[in-house]
Amino acid sequence: MEARLLPHHPICLPRSAPLLPTSVGCVAAARTLPRKPCRPPPVATGGLAAIAVACFLDRVSRRRRRIRGRVFRGLSPEAEAYLAEALHPELFKTKKVEEWLEPEVLRALSRWRESGDASLVDLELLPGIRVEAPGVISFALLRPSVCASLLAEARHYSEGGFPAELPNSMNREGVILNDIGLRPVFTILLRKHLAGIAARLLGNDSERATHLGGVPLGTENWGGSTLNDHHTFIVRYKPQGDRGLAMHVDECDITFNVGLSGGDSFVGGDLAFCGMFGDPTYRRLHHTYRHEVGRCVVHAGKRRHGVTDVEEGERASLVLWTKSLLFRGTQEYKDKCGDIVAGRKPLPEEMGPPDPICLSLTHDRDYLRWSHLL
Ligand SMILES: [Fe+2]
Repeated sequence: MEARLLPHHPICLPRSAPLLPTSVGCVAAARTLPRKPCRPPPVATGGLAAIAVACFLDRVSRRRRRIRGRVFRGLSPEAEAYLAEALHPELFKTKKVEEWLEPEVLRALSRWRESGDASLVDLELLPGIRVEAPGVISFALLRPSVCASLLAEARHYSEGGFPAELPNSMNREGVILNDIGLRPVFTILLRKHLAGIAARLLGNDSERATHLGGVPLGTENWGGSTLNDHHTFIVRYKPQGDRGLAMHVDECDITFNVGLSGGDSFVGGDLAFCGMFGDPTYRRLHHTYRHEVGRCVVHAGKRRHGVTDVEEGERASLVLWTKSLLFRGTQEYKDKCGDIVAGRKPLPEEMGPPDPICLSLTHDRDYLRWSHLL
């Protein structure tokens, strides 16, 4: 029986339909239209003209699907172009994100993933979880092989002469991963994995844990239950470039900071945590943390922190600045720091001498008074 072209749906063919060799099915159309063989009907009526039309419509459909895909993934044309040049193309596949994680992380999140209830995230199953200090928690998140691939990809991009913006206002050495086509995979990482951890650590009262193995977490609500955006980048510190990072707070609500290079590959480069922005203790040293490959340290973005100078080697880390627009619209956010950040309320007066490591050139009005302590 002769198959017919349906004029209103000429290219709706089963995916299993074989591609006809150009010389058989699309000889006329191939002269002007496809670079790749199209999918003409198995047997078409109407001769070469009908086949050429089918091929043309197939090309149009493929192009539309590519554009729709790009829009859906939120990629810029530059990011789309970089995909063809990527060192590790598998990093860009959203379906592979789950394979990035240490297996125990998935077990810790499984009940939340099934139910949507973040209070069921089992923090104690997160591998090697530690309360570094009140409000600063770390655990093993990414497999070392993924860390190595991400770092190599960032180096490949930096050294390849591709267009690049600075990752933030304070770092010169780094790559914004969102800009090179990795935004979709980090969106998946956030939505399907980190969101549960954020809710359990820094979310609403109904979802947030208070203790871990009897140790108080010391966290509070920073929008972890409703995170909806991220700015993701890799930063590198070395003696010949950015040596360290001055004391600051992040322009985000919750920061996830993952070590990409181990402590044995650099000297110096400690992550120093001080108090919360606007708090009387915000210039007191709270904790000093040293990165490990794959280990993620989580903290509120408004906790003052900085990186001490790297004396040898190179220190690299993956940073996700995450935020919740919903939380930022609440009175709770304004009460915590929103009015200060927005300039509607002045910063509290600095009270007394700071711990030297917590002194900030950019944020402290009395910096010169205490800079002799450095
Ligand atoms: Fe920071």
